[in-house]
Amino acid sequence: MHPDFWHQRWADNQIGFHQDAPTPLMLKHWPSLGVEPGTQVFVPLAGKSLDMAWFASQGYRVLGVELSRIAIEAFFAGHGVTPEISESKYGTHFRAGDIELICGDAFGLDEAALAGCGAVFDRAALIALPADLRRRYVHELYARLPSHCRGLLVTLEYPQHEKAGPPFSVVEEEVRELYGRDWNVETLERRDILDTQPRFVDEGVTALYTSVYRLTHKG
Ligand SMILES: C[S@@+](CC[C@H](N)C(=O)[O-])C[C@H]1O[C@@H](n2cnc3c(N)ncnc32)[C@H](O)[C@@H]1O
Repeated sequence: MHPDFWHQRWADNQIGFHQDAPTPLMLKHWPSLGVEPGTQVFVPLAGKSLDMAWFASQGYRVLGVELSRIAIEAFFAGHGVTPEISESKYGTHFRAGDIELICGDAFGLDEAALAGCGAVFDRAALIALPADLRRRYVHELYARLPSHCRGLLVTLEYPQHEKAGPPFSVVEEEVRELYGRDWNVETLERRDILDTQPRFVDEGVTALYTSVYRLTHKG
């Protein structure tokens, strides 16, 4: 998707992807990764996700990247904090407490920017991208993460011909094909969520699943 697409979504407040609570499947499965508190968790395509506040509340440091300044300002305003702002070649950095959000293009982050990360959490990021960008996202951006990284990936699956993305359907076979070169991929759970997603039903979607994967860098 062109950046303008996302800027317009935020400007129009068309953010149906945003959740008013941390991702339940993240709360359930994150502990199985065994990531030590104090670790910096990379949150790509972060939006104003409350998952980031949850990570900070658990003693993690957070590095998010997000195109939209509206999203980032809303995140900090929502938590009643005023971030410090600075500029770098990656974009505009907003920092408060253990959370740093870069307002910029995720694909512009290099190994130096990600060098401090020990974990990654992806919800509605991979599946926000069309197929060609998903390949770049994994083979370029994830490839710049340190070799000791672990992560949790949450995806959606539905008959793609029934609805245009985003979010896009990404089946297990594609996850394994994309990540398998550099990451061990374990499927932790696959759950039928059609009954809980009336927006998809209204759009004519007849089957909807969410899957959770544990990613462990092959090092
Ligand atoms: C579907 S939303 C998901 C946001 C968040 N992960 C959540 O769970 O609420 C995808 C987000 O990625 C951002 N985005 C899209 N492409 C991006 C890019 N290349 N770099 C940084 N952010 C991007 C969009 O602005 C949007 O906020």
